[in-house]
Amino acid sequence: MTNESRDPIESLFKEDRLFPPPPAFNHNGGMSEDLYQQLIREADQDYEGFWARLARSEIDWLTPFTRTLNETKAPHYRWFEDGTLNVSANCLDRHIARSGDKAAIVFEGEPGDTRTISYSELLTEVCRFANALLAQGIKQGDRVVIYMPMVPEAVIAMQACARIGAIHSVVFGGFSSESLKGRIEDAEAVAVVTADGGHRGGRIIGLKAICDKVLDDCPSVRTVFVLRRAGNPISWREGRDVWWHDAVAGMSPHCQAATVSAEHPLFLLYTSGSTGRPKGIQHASAGYLLGAILTMRWVFDIREDDVYWCTADVGWITGHSYVAYGPLACGATMVMYEGAPTTPDAGRFWQICERHRVRIFYTAPTAIRALKKQGDEYPRRYNLDRLRLLGTVGEPINPEAWMWYHEVIGQKRCPIVDTWWQTETGAHMIAPIPGITATKPGSCTKALPGILADVVDSEGRSITKPQEGGYLVIRRPWPFMLRTIWGDPARYQETYWGRFQNRYYVSGDGARRDADGYFWVMGRVDDVLKVSGHRLGTMEIESVLVAHPLVAEAAVVGRPDEITGEAICAFIVTRGPRPSASEQARVTETLRQWIAEQIGAIAKPAEIRYADNLPKTRSGKIMRRLLRAVASGTTVEEDVSTLENPDIIKQLQGDAGR
Ligand code: WTA
Repeated sequence: MTNESRDPIESLFKEDRLFPPPPAFNHNGGMSEDLYQQLIREADQDYEGFWARLARSEIDWLTPFTRTLNETKAPHYRWFEDGTLNVSANCLDRHIARSGDKAAIVFEGEPGDTRTISYSELLTEVCRFANALLAQGIKQGDRVVIYMPMVPEAVIAMQACARIGAIHSVVFGGFSSESLKGRIEDAEAVAVVTADGGHRGGRIIGLKAICDKVLDDCPSVRTVFVLRRAGNPISWREGRDVWWHDAVAGMSPHCQAATVSAEHPLFLLYTSGSTGRPKGIQHASAGYLLGAILTMRWVFDIREDDVYWCTADVGWITGHSYVAYGPLACGATMVMYEGAPTTPDAGRFWQICERHRVRIFYTAPTAIRALKKQGDEYPRRYNLDRLRLLGTVGEPINPEAWMWYHEVIGQKRCPIVDTWWQTETGAHMIAPIPGITATKPGSCTKALPGILADVVDSEGRSITKPQEGGYLVIRRPWPFMLRTIWGDPARYQETYWGRFQNRYYVSGDGARRDADGYFWVMGRVDDVLKVSGHRLGTMEIESVLVAHPLVAEAAVVGRPDEITGEAICAFIVTRGPRPSASEQARVTETLRQWIAEQIGAIAKPAEIRYADNLPKTRSGKIMRRLLRAVASGTTVEEDVSTLENPDIIKQLQGDAGR
């Protein structure tokens, strides 16, 4: 399973449309053209001073920091390290005096139940659950895995961990029991917070039952908190499992926020890389919080009277920065929705926007494409006049989807902020400032103040020629960057800094800049896929496939997909003879099921093809580029004469397994 990296991507695609900031966009969030230019200048003239000033003004410190950036152990950078704070106090306590009664979370369950939680109520709930964590002996620095549906208690659990200085690791509810187990083991979590079930797509996802499949084999876990959400029957282990409502019963509504250092790990979030097992991306408290706050102001222009809705699940970084932390730290009112965008029909998002008077709406291109496909009649049924700002994240947005979002959802009135960032970067990095930056469909525009994004060639030289593709890198450390990979500092260094000898942070994305200096992200240069905006490593899927007794060899590649962006295509060599046409459907179903069990349904291949062999170079490398061409049905331009076994190509092309 070796791989050669992709060619630097040559883009033929050219998009000329320019959308100046709509004059009607009333920019009261605090940013103005002057201020924006001033921020850029300030960061340029005094980089550390710039971040220090913002960190002082945006964060309530318990002990002020005196040292801004410590580079002595680069690339293990430390920010504001002698300062102390509590992130939960910054998200909740500081709003109570002025806006205790303001709605923090407006929740809507998939079945239609709604619940509004004020800042005072949220603080009370967070304190009670924090006390419940303490009562179970959970201490500062302990890891707590959160495996929850999109309900307010997911945020409450995250905030409660932050309050006592425990490190949460949220596992997306769509991951399988085996994925959950791997993450629990890697983090040596002492507790799991879950629910009986959650509602998704008209069904109940039995989260507790999924936990039960593996928790007996996770000896580090002493306590399992179970929220009653869906009311489905569950099994129970006395002595380990405790109902959420029992755990908080009688708990004090007050809980002193723990004092933690700026660099104290706030959370781990596992994400797929190009090789091996998912890595636990570790973020620090103060720097991360600063990024979430600043981008809420700069990019989302958040204001006192806004209703803000980010549709991301808390299982992803977007649901951390722009659901669990950023909006609360800014004292915003946010909508939280439990279910699928198409339940009961493709109007659900727009119905929620109307019902809860949403003004800022942030979602993924895959959702936009899927909803666009259902037709304009769904958004037309609802009053979307209150929307004032739209955003996207997760993958490049194709101009057609952008235009639909702009015309049909935003009614040509709302700026679109296309935000480029990653689990590792903590917050937006390249994004327009609404009302200030002119936008182009498909471009995330320019780097934010203080973010030194660049495109470099394979020698690390900055590419100044417009439209020439290269590696997207960040030239200086920034406060909200990841600190390390949990338990594996060497992999951190190698993955993110290795390619250019620790000079730049290497994002793993390819990008180009146009003549106006706008960034166009062209996708990954490594073997990471983006399927419906979710990050999946091809190696991870391959190693799961070869672990199945039917499989001798496997190669996984992405092919373009109209809705999901990329779709997974697997090439399989079975043990024993290649399955006949009639057997293939059965084998395919078995393998798809296997992937769902081992990783999660999101990683199921859309297509599996069978061959007697995989195309390899004479040195034994699988020719992935060639497989990508086969998977997407484009012409194979490779010189196949160097192949060990040239006939295999015909077999792969002519023989689609499903
Ligand atoms: C991709 C999601 C183009 C990119 C926040 C990146 C994007 C990966 C954009 C990170 C965008 C994210 N335009 N591509 N606006 N936003 N990406 O860690 O390939 O789930 O490296 O974080 O998503 O995915 P992750």
